[in-house]
Amino acid sequence: MLMIVFVPSNRGISVGVIAGISIAAIVVLLLLGVGMYIGFFRKKVKGTTLLLTASSDFSAQAGNVYGSKAAEPTAAVAATPGLTGITVDKSVEFSYEELAQETDNFSMANKIGEGGFGAVYYANLRGEEAAIKKMDMQASKEFLAELKVLTHVHHLNLVRLIGYCVEGSLFLVYEYIENGNLSQHLRGSSREPLPWSTRVQIALDSARGLEYIHEHTVPVYIHRDIKSANILIDKNFRAKVADFGLTKLTEVGSASLPTRLVGTFGYMPPEYAQYGDVSAKVDVYAFGVVLYELISAKEAIVKANGSIADSKGLVALFEDALNGPDCKEELCKLIDPRLGDNYPLDSVFKMAQLAKACTQENPQLRPSMRSIVVALMTLSSSTEDWDVGSFYENQALVNLMSGR
Ligand SMILES: Nc1ncnc2c1ncn2[C@@H]1O[C@H](COP(=O)(O)OP(=O)(O)OP(=O)(O)O)[C@@H](O)[C@H]1O
Ligand SMILES: [Mg+2]
Repeated sequence: MLMIVFVPSNRGISVGVIAGISIAAIVVLLLLGVGMYIGFFRKKVKGTTLLLTASSDFSAQAGNVYGSKAAEPTAAVAATPGLTGITVDKSVEFSYEELAQETDNFSMANKIGEGGFGAVYYANLRGEEAAIKKMDMQASKEFLAELKVLTHVHHLNLVRLIGYCVEGSLFLVYEYIENGNLSQHLRGSSREPLPWSTRVQIALDSARGLEYIHEHTVPVYIHRDIKSANILIDKNFRAKVADFGLTKLTEVGSASLPTRLVGTFGYMPPEYAQYGDVSAKVDVYAFGVVLYELISAKEAIVKANGSIADSKGLVALFEDALNGPDCKEELCKLIDPRLGDNYPLDSVFKMAQLAKACTQENPQLRPSMRSIVVALMTLSSSTEDWDVGSFYENQALVNLMSGR
């Protein structure tokens, strides 16, 4: 834009000077405009670059579930007969050599325990503590596909599957949970008794883990082996459900065989034990048994006088007490003696009622894990109050939660 300014000549400035100044101003304005334009483009390019950097960082993180060091690609899958052509996340594969080295060749000293699927070993893998389950089975194609899905299921109340190894045997690598399992805490003589509020919190944590796999994963899972040994306790006494998806894994691993009845005696509902009927309510029943364990610290099958002939299920034991004329008094006789008098009977009674609802014979009458989570949240909020000795402080909220 050309600007010509006419100034009266009697002020002593010539038209030529004015024209010169005007042209200079225009040049400066043009330069500024060009500068801003270039700046804008620079910013845009930088923005795109940042975006690219962020997304490549993200994919690196997503691929490498296990810390900063990406695992070396191994030939494990290709080396396993019949498994060629399967694409698996390299980052969650471990080599046999690495696992053997970090468990001191699967030594007895590193062995943590043994379960229905094989032995479990402690290892420090790439700076993180891990529990390695050496499975008594081989991996199949379907198994590997299922494993891949499982490594992507993450929840605070589920023990995380970090990765696996398919060289020779099949190994599952889990995050290590420091504080043993719930069964050990309830019945192990070397452990301090769990306070009541911690028991309620453990119940709520486990319920949340189960609700997650029942309702929020794709595909959804039914655990089928819920029991106190499969509820692990971390250093803050928070609970995580272990071994979810394992029954499905073993099923896809033996696709040609008829469905095995997996589970543990004392935790299996009648429709599952008798007819093999599987639904999420199988887990609800087993969870109810765990609630009874939290109250009584007794095993799922109680051996009267130590004899198997006189053994009775914990469910039947509690039902007898709860259906009796003086149920609260009968319930008191079943409460873990290690709690002493340090429990709110009302809270214990409510948990027992919840356990009874979970262990009903008709699976359809059992509540869903979602309702159980809500019920335990209510119980947990009132129990926390009870433990800090200010039970009535938060009464309005308690009333609201319990619909009073
Ligand atoms: N991720 C883990 N972190 C720490 N300890 C673990 C972990 N996984 C398992 N364990 C310990 O190893 C023991 C054996 O586990 P495993 O799952 O093989 O058997 P289980 O739970 O007794 O029975 P099941 O085979 O039915 O699950 C458990 O009792 C548990 O204490
Ligand atoms: Mg287990």
